[in-house]
Amino acid sequence: MSPFRITRTLPEDATDAALRTDVRDGLSAFPRTLPPKWFYDAHGSDLFERITGLPEYYPTRAEREILVDCSAEIAAAAGARTLVELGSGSSEKTRHLIAALTGLHTYVPVDVSESALTQAGRALIAERPGLGVHALIADFTAPLTLPDTPGPRLLAFLGGTIGNLVPDERAAFLASVRGLLAPGDALLLGTDLVKDEDVLVRAYDDAAGVTAAFNKNVLAVVNRELGADFDPGAFDHVALWDAENEWIEMRLRSRTAQTVKIPALDLAVDFAAGEDLRTEVSAKFRQEGVRAELSAAGLELTHWWTDREGRFALSLSAVR
Ligand code: AVJ
Repeated sequence: MSPFRITRTLPEDATDAALRTDVRDGLSAFPRTLPPKWFYDAHGSDLFERITGLPEYYPTRAEREILVDCSAEIAAAAGARTLVELGSGSSEKTRHLIAALTGLHTYVPVDVSESALTQAGRALIAERPGLGVHALIADFTAPLTLPDTPGPRLLAFLGGTIGNLVPDERAAFLASVRGLLAPGDALLLGTDLVKDEDVLVRAYDDAAGVTAAFNKNVLAVVNRELGADFDPGAFDHVALWDAENEWIEMRLRSRTAQTVKIPALDLAVDFAAGEDLRTEVSAKFRQEGVRAELSAAGLELTHWWTDREGRFALSLSAVR
Protein backbone atom coordinates (compact mmCIF):
# COMPACT_ATOMS: atom_id res chain seq x y z
CA MET A 1 0.00 0.00 0.00
CA SER A 2 1.22 3.51 -0.76
CA PRO A 3 2.29 5.43 2.36
CA PHE A 4 0.21 8.38 1.10
CA ARG A 5 -3.57 8.26 1.09
CA ILE A 6 -5.96 11.12 0.60
CA THR A 7 -9.64 11.03 1.53
CA ARG A 8 -12.17 13.62 0.44
CA THR A 9 -14.83 14.17 3.08
CA LEU A 10 -16.09 17.34 1.44
CA PRO A 11 -18.34 16.92 -1.59
CA GLU A 12 -17.01 18.92 -4.57
CA ASP A 13 -19.95 21.33 -4.38
CA ALA A 14 -20.00 21.73 -0.57
CA THR A 15 -17.67 24.73 -0.70
CA ASP A 16 -19.86 26.52 -3.18
CA ALA A 17 -23.01 25.93 -1.12
CA ALA A 18 -21.28 27.05 2.09
CA LEU A 19 -19.96 30.23 0.43
CA ARG A 20 -23.42 31.13 -0.83
CA THR A 21 -24.97 30.62 2.60
CA ASP A 22 -22.22 32.54 4.38
CA VAL A 23 -22.36 35.48 1.95
CA ARG A 24 -26.14 35.65 1.95
CA ASP A 25 -26.43 35.43 5.74
CA GLY A 26 -23.45 37.65 6.49
CA LEU A 27 -24.29 40.46 4.08
CA SER A 28 -27.99 40.52 4.98
CA ALA A 29 -27.25 41.01 8.69
CA PHE A 30 -26.21 44.05 10.74
CA PRO A 31 -23.39 44.52 11.37
CA ARG A 32 -22.41 42.96 8.07
CA THR A 33 -19.95 40.08 8.31
CA LEU A 34 -18.09 37.57 6.17
CA PRO A 35 -16.34 34.56 7.75
CA PRO A 36 -12.52 34.62 7.50
CA LYS A 37 -12.31 31.17 5.91
CA TRP A 38 -13.09 32.73 2.52
CA PHE A 39 -9.79 34.66 2.49
CA TYR A 40 -7.90 31.56 1.47
CA ASP A 41 -8.16 31.04 -2.28
CA ALA A 42 -4.79 30.55 -4.04
CA HIS A 43 -4.01 34.30 -4.00
CA GLY A 44 -5.22 34.73 -0.41
CA SER A 45 -3.09 31.78 0.69
CA ASP A 46 -0.06 33.40 -0.99
CA LEU A 47 -0.81 36.68 0.76
CA PHE A 48 -1.11 34.87 4.10
CA GLU A 49 2.28 33.22 3.50
CA ARG A 50 3.69 36.73 2.93
CA ILE A 51 2.02 37.96 6.14
CA THR A 52 3.80 35.24 8.13
CA GLY A 53 7.13 36.77 7.06
CA LEU A 54 6.25 40.42 7.84
CA PRO A 55 8.24 42.15 10.59
CA GLU A 56 5.01 43.16 12.38
CA TYR A 57 3.37 39.70 12.24
CA TYR A 58 5.04 37.87 15.12
CA PRO A 59 2.69 34.86 15.75
CA THR A 60 4.16 32.50 13.16
CA ARG A 61 7.76 33.14 14.26
CA ALA A 62 6.83 32.91 17.93
CA GLU A 63 5.04 29.59 17.45
CA ARG A 64 7.88 28.21 15.33
CA GLU A 65 10.32 29.17 18.09
CA ILE A 66 8.29 27.14 20.60
CA LEU A 67 8.14 24.14 18.27
CA VAL A 68 11.89 24.30 17.61
CA ASP A 69 12.74 24.64 21.30
CA CYS A 70 10.08 22.41 22.88
CA SER A 71 9.17 19.66 20.40
CA ALA A 72 11.18 17.09 22.35
CA GLU A 73 9.21 17.90 25.52
CA ILE A 74 5.91 17.93 23.65
CA ALA A 75 6.73 14.60 22.04
CA ALA A 76 7.77 13.05 25.36
CA ALA A 77 4.57 14.24 27.04
CA ALA A 78 2.28 13.08 24.21
CA GLY A 79 4.07 9.90 23.07
CA ALA A 80 1.77 9.87 20.06
CA ARG A 81 1.63 7.17 17.39
CA THR A 82 -0.88 9.20 15.37
CA LEU A 83 -0.60 12.94 14.84
CA VAL A 84 -3.73 14.65 13.51
CA GLU A 85 -3.32 18.27 12.43
CA LEU A 86 -6.36 20.45 11.77
CA GLY A 87 -5.76 23.19 9.18
CA SER A 88 -2.35 21.75 8.33
CA GLY A 89 -1.66 23.97 5.27
CA SER A 90 1.99 23.54 4.28
CA SER A 91 2.76 21.55 7.50
CA GLU A 92 5.91 23.68 7.68
CA LYS A 93 6.06 24.26 11.46
CA THR A 94 4.78 20.74 12.19
CA ARG A 95 7.97 19.21 10.74
CA HIS A 96 9.79 19.88 14.01
CA LEU A 97 7.14 18.04 15.97
CA ILE A 98 7.05 15.13 13.53
CA ALA A 99 10.84 14.80 13.76
CA ALA A 100 10.62 14.65 17.56
CA LEU A 101 7.79 12.07 17.64
CA THR A 102 10.05 9.06 17.20
CA GLY A 103 7.30 6.45 17.59
CA LEU A 104 4.99 8.13 15.08
CA HIS A 105 3.07 5.71 12.84
CA THR A 106 0.72 7.98 10.87
CA TYR A 107 0.35 11.71 10.24
CA VAL A 108 -3.19 12.83 9.41
CA PRO A 109 -3.15 16.37 7.95
CA VAL A 110 -6.63 17.87 7.60
CA ASP A 111 -7.18 20.83 5.30
CA VAL A 112 -9.64 22.18 2.73
CA SER A 113 -6.83 22.65 0.21
CA GLU A 114 -6.12 19.45 -1.73
CA SER A 115 -3.02 20.96 -3.36
CA ALA A 116 -1.51 21.92 0.00
CA LEU A 117 -2.20 18.41 1.35
CA THR A 118 -0.63 16.65 -1.61
CA GLN A 119 2.49 18.85 -1.63
CA ALA A 120 3.05 18.69 2.10
CA GLY A 121 2.30 14.96 2.30
CA ARG A 122 4.78 14.01 -0.39
CA ALA A 123 7.53 16.20 1.09
CA LEU A 124 7.04 14.63 4.53
CA ILE A 125 7.21 11.09 3.21
CA ALA A 126 10.46 11.92 1.43
CA GLU A 127 11.82 13.32 4.70
CA ARG A 128 10.60 10.49 6.92
CA PRO A 129 10.50 7.20 5.02
CA GLY A 130 8.18 4.72 6.69
CA LEU A 131 5.78 7.39 7.97
CA GLY A 132 2.23 6.84 6.80
CA VAL A 133 0.37 9.98 5.70
CA HIS A 134 -3.40 9.85 5.48
CA ALA A 135 -4.58 13.29 4.38
CA LEU A 136 -8.18 14.39 4.81
CA ILE A 137 -9.76 17.04 2.62
CA ALA A 138 -12.12 18.46 5.20
CA ASP A 139 -13.34 21.62 6.84
CA PHE A 140 -12.25 21.40 10.49
CA THR A 141 -15.34 23.29 11.65
CA ALA A 142 -17.54 20.43 10.37
CA PRO A 143 -17.90 17.02 12.05
CA LEU A 144 -14.90 14.83 11.28
CA THR A 145 -14.28 11.08 11.20
CA LEU A 146 -10.67 10.09 11.75
CA PRO A 147 -9.02 7.09 10.06
CA ASP A 148 -8.51 3.99 12.19
CA THR A 149 -4.84 4.38 13.16
CA PRO A 150 -2.93 3.39 16.33
CA GLY A 151 -3.16 5.50 19.49
CA PRO A 152 -2.26 7.42 21.44
CA ARG A 153 -3.33 10.29 19.25
CA LEU A 154 -2.08 13.85 19.39
CA LEU A 155 -4.44 16.34 17.79
CA ALA A 156 -2.73 19.62 16.88
CA PHE A 157 -4.47 22.88 16.05
CA LEU A 158 -1.73 25.44 15.53
CA GLY A 159 -1.31 29.01 14.35
CA GLY A 160 -3.79 30.58 16.72
CA THR A 161 -6.61 29.84 14.29
CA ILE A 162 -8.93 28.97 17.20
CA GLY A 163 -8.98 32.75 17.69
CA ASN A 164 -11.06 33.07 14.52
CA LEU A 165 -13.95 31.55 16.48
CA VAL A 166 -16.09 33.55 18.93
CA PRO A 167 -16.54 32.03 22.41
CA ASP A 168 -19.71 30.03 21.62
CA GLU A 169 -18.10 28.61 18.50
CA ARG A 170 -14.93 27.76 20.45
CA ALA A 171 -16.95 25.86 23.05
CA ALA A 172 -18.68 23.82 20.33
CA PHE A 173 -15.39 23.26 18.51
CA LEU A 174 -13.51 22.12 21.62
CA ALA A 175 -16.37 19.79 22.57
CA SER A 176 -16.23 18.16 19.14
CA VAL A 177 -12.42 17.87 19.39
CA ARG A 178 -12.87 16.22 22.78
CA GLY A 179 -15.23 13.77 21.09
CA LEU A 180 -12.44 12.68 18.74
CA LEU A 181 -10.10 11.84 21.62
CA ALA A 182 -9.87 8.79 23.88
CA PRO A 183 -8.18 8.54 27.30
CA GLY A 184 -4.42 8.80 26.78
CA ASP A 185 -4.82 11.13 23.76
CA ALA A 186 -3.91 14.83 23.87
CA LEU A 187 -4.67 18.18 22.25
CA LEU A 188 -1.89 20.60 21.27
CA LEU A 189 -3.40 24.06 20.85
CA GLY A 190 -1.72 27.25 19.59
CA THR A 191 -3.06 30.50 21.04
CA ASP A 192 -1.87 34.06 20.52
CA LEU A 193 -1.68 35.95 23.82
CA VAL A 194 -3.05 39.30 25.00
CA LYS A 195 -0.34 41.96 24.79
CA ASP A 196 0.28 45.64 24.13
CA GLU A 197 -2.46 47.07 21.88
CA ASP A 198 0.01 48.76 19.49
CA VAL A 199 1.86 45.52 18.88
CA LEU A 200 -1.40 43.71 18.21
CA VAL A 201 -2.84 46.32 15.87
CA ARG A 202 0.38 46.63 13.89
CA ALA A 203 0.40 42.85 13.36
CA TYR A 204 -2.94 43.26 11.53
CA ASP A 205 -2.17 46.57 9.81
CA ASP A 206 1.35 46.26 8.46
CA ALA A 207 3.25 49.11 6.85
CA ALA A 208 3.64 47.29 3.51
CA GLY A 209 -0.13 46.85 3.20
CA VAL A 210 -0.03 43.07 2.75
CA THR A 211 -2.74 42.50 5.39
CA ALA A 212 -4.91 45.16 3.72
CA ALA A 213 -4.58 43.29 0.41
CA PHE A 214 -5.34 39.99 2.20
CA ASN A 215 -8.45 41.51 3.76
CA LYS A 216 -9.70 42.94 0.44
CA ASN A 217 -9.03 39.63 -1.30
CA VAL A 218 -12.23 38.25 0.21
CA LEU A 219 -14.11 40.72 -2.03
CA ALA A 220 -12.30 39.34 -5.08
CA VAL A 221 -13.31 35.82 -4.03
CA VAL A 222 -16.99 36.82 -3.81
CA ASN A 223 -16.70 38.64 -7.16
CA ARG A 224 -15.21 35.62 -8.89
CA GLU A 225 -17.36 32.91 -7.29
CA LEU A 226 -20.71 34.70 -7.16
CA GLY A 227 -20.37 37.30 -9.93
CA ALA A 228 -20.48 40.21 -7.47
CA ASP A 229 -19.27 43.70 -8.38
CA PHE A 230 -17.36 44.71 -5.23
CA ASP A 231 -14.80 47.43 -5.96
CA PRO A 232 -11.96 46.61 -3.50
CA GLY A 233 -10.71 50.19 -3.92
CA ALA A 234 -13.99 51.50 -2.50
CA PHE A 235 -13.22 49.97 0.91
CA ASP A 236 -10.56 50.78 3.51
CA HIS A 237 -8.77 48.15 5.56
CA VAL A 238 -9.40 48.57 9.30
CA ALA A 239 -7.78 46.65 12.18
CA LEU A 240 -8.92 47.43 15.71
CA TRP A 241 -8.48 46.03 19.21
CA ASP A 242 -11.70 45.21 21.06
CA ALA A 243 -10.50 45.46 24.65
CA GLU A 244 -13.68 44.06 26.14
CA ASN A 245 -13.70 40.87 24.08
CA GLU A 246 -9.90 40.79 23.86
CA TRP A 247 -9.90 40.26 20.12
CA ILE A 248 -8.60 41.96 17.01
CA GLU A 249 -11.22 42.73 14.39
CA MET A 250 -10.50 43.22 10.75
CA ARG A 251 -13.07 45.19 8.86
CA LEU A 252 -13.60 46.67 5.42
CA ARG A 253 -15.01 50.19 5.67
CA SER A 254 -17.07 51.49 2.79
CA ARG A 255 -15.56 54.78 1.61
CA THR A 256 -18.85 55.98 0.11
CA ALA A 257 -22.53 55.11 -0.02
CA GLN A 258 -22.66 52.31 -2.58
CA THR A 259 -24.72 49.34 -3.71
CA VAL A 260 -23.03 46.01 -4.44
CA LYS A 261 -24.79 43.46 -6.64
CA ILE A 262 -24.39 39.73 -6.12
CA PRO A 263 -26.16 38.14 -9.12
CA ALA A 264 -25.67 34.49 -8.05
CA LEU A 265 -27.69 35.27 -4.90
CA ASP A 266 -30.04 37.70 -6.58
CA LEU A 267 -28.99 40.15 -3.88
CA ALA A 268 -28.15 43.86 -3.76
CA VAL A 269 -26.38 45.14 -0.64
CA ASP A 270 -26.42 48.82 0.30
CA PHE A 271 -23.45 50.17 2.21
CA ALA A 272 -23.66 53.57 3.90
CA ALA A 273 -20.57 55.77 3.77
CA GLY A 274 -18.34 54.62 6.64
CA GLU A 275 -20.26 51.37 7.17
CA ASP A 276 -18.12 48.41 8.21
CA LEU A 277 -18.11 44.85 7.00
CA ARG A 278 -16.47 42.59 9.63
CA THR A 279 -14.21 40.05 7.96
CA GLU A 280 -12.30 38.51 10.88
CA VAL A 281 -12.14 38.15 14.62
CA SER A 282 -8.74 37.06 15.95
CA ALA A 283 -9.06 36.45 19.67
CA LYS A 284 -6.07 36.73 22.00
CA PHE A 285 -5.84 34.62 25.14
CA ARG A 286 -4.57 34.36 28.71
CA GLN A 287 -3.54 31.09 30.32
CA GLU A 288 -6.46 31.09 32.76
CA GLY A 289 -8.97 31.59 29.97
CA VAL A 290 -7.48 28.80 27.87
CA ARG A 291 -7.52 26.50 30.90
CA ALA A 292 -11.17 27.31 31.63
CA GLU A 293 -12.32 26.82 28.02
CA LEU A 294 -10.51 23.49 27.80
CA SER A 295 -11.93 22.40 31.13
CA ALA A 296 -15.48 23.22 30.04
CA ALA A 297 -14.94 20.85 27.09
CA GLY A 298 -13.67 18.01 29.30
CA LEU A 299 -9.98 18.64 28.71
CA GLU A 300 -7.32 19.33 31.32
CA LEU A 301 -4.42 21.65 30.54
CA THR A 302 -1.22 19.81 31.53
CA HIS A 303 1.57 21.82 29.86
CA TRP A 304 2.03 25.43 28.77
CA TRP A 305 4.92 26.65 26.65
CA THR A 306 5.52 30.20 25.38
CA ASP A 307 8.16 31.80 23.19
CA ARG A 308 10.93 33.68 24.99
CA GLU A 309 9.06 36.99 24.74
CA GLY A 310 5.80 35.47 26.04
CA ARG A 311 3.79 36.46 22.97
CA PHE A 312 2.31 33.12 21.94
CA ALA A 313 1.52 29.86 23.74
CA LEU A 314 1.22 26.19 22.97
CA SER A 315 -0.82 24.24 25.48
CA LEU A 316 -1.08 20.50 25.84
CA SER A 317 -4.19 19.06 27.37
CA ALA A 318 -5.39 15.60 28.27
CA VAL A 319 -8.79 13.97 28.27
CA ARG A 320 -10.27 14.31 31.73
C1 AVJ B 1 -4.36 32.25 10.39
C2 AVJ B 1 -6.22 32.90 11.71
C3 AVJ B 1 -4.09 32.63 12.73
O1 AVJ B 1 -5.74 35.52 12.97
O2 AVJ B 1 -3.63 35.96 12.95
C4 AVJ B 1 -3.38 37.08 9.70
C5 AVJ B 1 -5.04 35.13 10.05
N1 AVJ B 1 -5.45 37.57 9.62
N2 AVJ B 1 -3.50 38.40 9.47
C6 AVJ B 1 -4.61 35.41 12.49
C7 AVJ B 1 -4.63 36.55 9.80
C8 AVJ B 1 -4.76 38.69 9.40
C9 AVJ B 1 -4.40 34.53 11.25
N3 AVJ B 1 -4.79 33.10 11.51
